[in-house]
Amino acid sequence: MEQPSSLVDRLLAPRVVYALTFIVVALVGTLHFLPKEWASEIDVSVLPTINALLNATAAILLVSAFIAIRYRRITIHRNLMLTALMTSVVFLLLYTVYHTLSPGPTLYTGQYPMFYRSVLFSHIILAVIILPMALFTVRHGLGDRRMEHRKLARWTFPLWLYVSVTGVLIYGMLYL
Ligand code: HEM
Repeated sequence: MEQPSSLVDRLLAPRVVYALTFIVVALVGTLHFLPKEWASEIDVSVLPTINALLNATAAILLVSAFIAIRYRRITIHRNLMLTALMTSVVFLLLYTVYHTLSPGPTLYTGQYPMFYRSVLFSHIILAVIILPMALFTVRHGLGDRRMEHRKLARWTFPLWLYVSVTGVLIYGMLYL
């Protein structure tokens, strides 16, 4: 007989995860084209620094969680991964706030435009892909479906780490 699905399994069911991904991508995409009449009223210039720190924190949490599972510390691994997920969710919220209130995207004026563009392009594409992947990886992890979790986590971990690290790199290239 089929097992009744848990609350997490239902909350993170594929159709919910894909709908959420679609909403986030549509929202962030739309923000780049919105007229920003109210933009200059509120100073949001501190947000890129906070967002870079959140990305750096997520990267440190991911590596720590990876080390924890190498030592078979499952509870520590779970808590660190869930904290990394929370960090990325807060990042996404502040990123949305920043792009709603800022006058427009910051342009790169440094010496390596090709390198910058390839990092930015890969970062954006993988950031979209990592959203459902991270949620499905957490879903399998919390559901204790170890085979499925391991199979997906081997991709989720390096890709998420790449997105977090390149987030910091992009900030450095734009603002430092
Ligand atoms: C998106 C978040 C997560 C990522 C990226 C992630 C990543 C990983 C990675 C890379 C491994 C090692 C796989 C291997 O052996 O090659 C692993 C194993 C494991 N993870 Fe996660 N994990 C996440 C969330 C969770 C959560 C929330 C739990 C809940 C308890 C969990 C439980 C486990 C367990 C039990 C293993 C050992 C599987 C086994 O070898 O039998 N993980 N995870």
